[in-house]
Amino acid sequence: MEQTTRGNWGSQMGFILAAAGSAIGLGNIWRYPYITGQNGGAAFVLLYLACVLVIALPVLIAELALGRRTTMNPVGAFQALTTSKYWPFVGYLGVITGVGILSFYLVVAGWTLGYIVKELSGTIGSFGDFVQDPISEIGYFAAFLGLTVFVVLGGVEKGIERWSKFLMPALLILLLCLIGYNLTLEGASKGIEFYLNPDFSKINGSTFLAALGQAFFSLSLGMGTMITYGSYLPKKENIPVGAVAVALSDTAIAFLAGLMIFPALFSVGLEPSQGPALVFNVLPSVFATMPGGQFIGIAFFILLAIAALTSTVSLLEVPVAFLVDQKKWSRKKAVWIISGATFLLGLPSALAQGTSDFFSTLTLFGQTGFLDIMSFVFSDLSLPIGGFFIAIFVGWVWGARHASEEILLGTPPAFSRLMAGWGFLIRFVCPAMILLVLIAKLFS
Ligand code: TRP
Repeated sequence: MEQTTRGNWGSQMGFILAAAGSAIGLGNIWRYPYITGQNGGAAFVLLYLACVLVIALPVLIAELALGRRTTMNPVGAFQALTTSKYWPFVGYLGVITGVGILSFYLVVAGWTLGYIVKELSGTIGSFGDFVQDPISEIGYFAAFLGLTVFVVLGGVEKGIERWSKFLMPALLILLLCLIGYNLTLEGASKGIEFYLNPDFSKINGSTFLAALGQAFFSLSLGMGTMITYGSYLPKKENIPVGAVAVALSDTAIAFLAGLMIFPALFSVGLEPSQGPALVFNVLPSVFATMPGGQFIGIAFFILLAIAALTSTVSLLEVPVAFLVDQKKWSRKKAVWIISGATFLLGLPSALAQGTSDFFSTLTLFGQTGFLDIMSFVFSDLSLPIGGFFIAIFVGWVWGARHASEEILLGTPPAFSRLMAGWGFLIRFVCPAMILLVLIAKLFS
């Protein structure tokens, strides 16, 4: 019954595009470069790639299998497979994390709107001045929230998906062109050195958690987005192949974004560890040196805004699906209430770039500024903790064997060997590594 009323993805390709649309966003082009910059460059990149391969990819497969098996939202998925009262809390954590991430993500997505307008008008000005104007900060943040609500309520998600089929390849091509250009800039080789030549002395306990948190954030893992996406997957689809395709495209875009940013950064002589402002400081100054740079700037920020939109839609979808499925709210009511809460929670992040002294200088967990704190708490802590429990649940409670049976419904029989390897990763390696990384952070 559920299976037919929920509707399905049209094809394996449709699913991969939608999941990649959720995964590819500001996490790849805004967050990945600045986190890499803060954590010393190339050595961090290697850790990040290892986290994607060994921890995030098995968890992605687990979330998709859990969703497809139960055809449920994250809370319902746990309730469907166990009678324990406690497991659904992992789903609740995901619902809260969705609102938490959305609140600061929308602020940054608002910046991309602001930069479209700046590039259009031809006067860029400094990022610092831009984010200190409370009216435009809150205005752009609210505008992006409005855009997300419009897509989710207006039923135009399908339309966005169809568009992103053309626009995401366009983003890729633009990235490649910008890399080509930036590599010719004077001083670019220092950026390549920083980005690709590892200096392992820069790694400490915090670096591991930053890499793991970024891997979860970038792949939209640890809070049930992929459980929800899996709930729309027909049984005949091949989960491991889909998961690898999503992980590969997401990681490739992030890696290329770094290759675009760091040569430019060193050539303009900016600081790699400057935090969330990084891409907004670097790119406009590069566009300004290019022939036709204004149009490239406009195109870049439009594509980035659309990549962000497919991600904000997927973030809003988890709390909304929870309220609709579990609490029987109407979709409209759920969307408005969650948006209202997100707006209030996002205000301090919007004011944290100098507008409000209090929110800009607030320091917690070694992070300064409300937006940085939110990003740390909800990405680096909440997502890996959610991922830990999802791995334990799928590996031990539902059971890796049952999960493998579910996955094998859509794969050629030869995959059963591979699934044994996955079972080992999800039962032992993922939980142990996540725990170790969280403990390493405590002692760093
Ligand atoms: N992965 C997206 C990005 O990189 C952000 C995102 C969308 C997300 N849905 C999520 C992150 C769910 C964590 C969980 O921009």
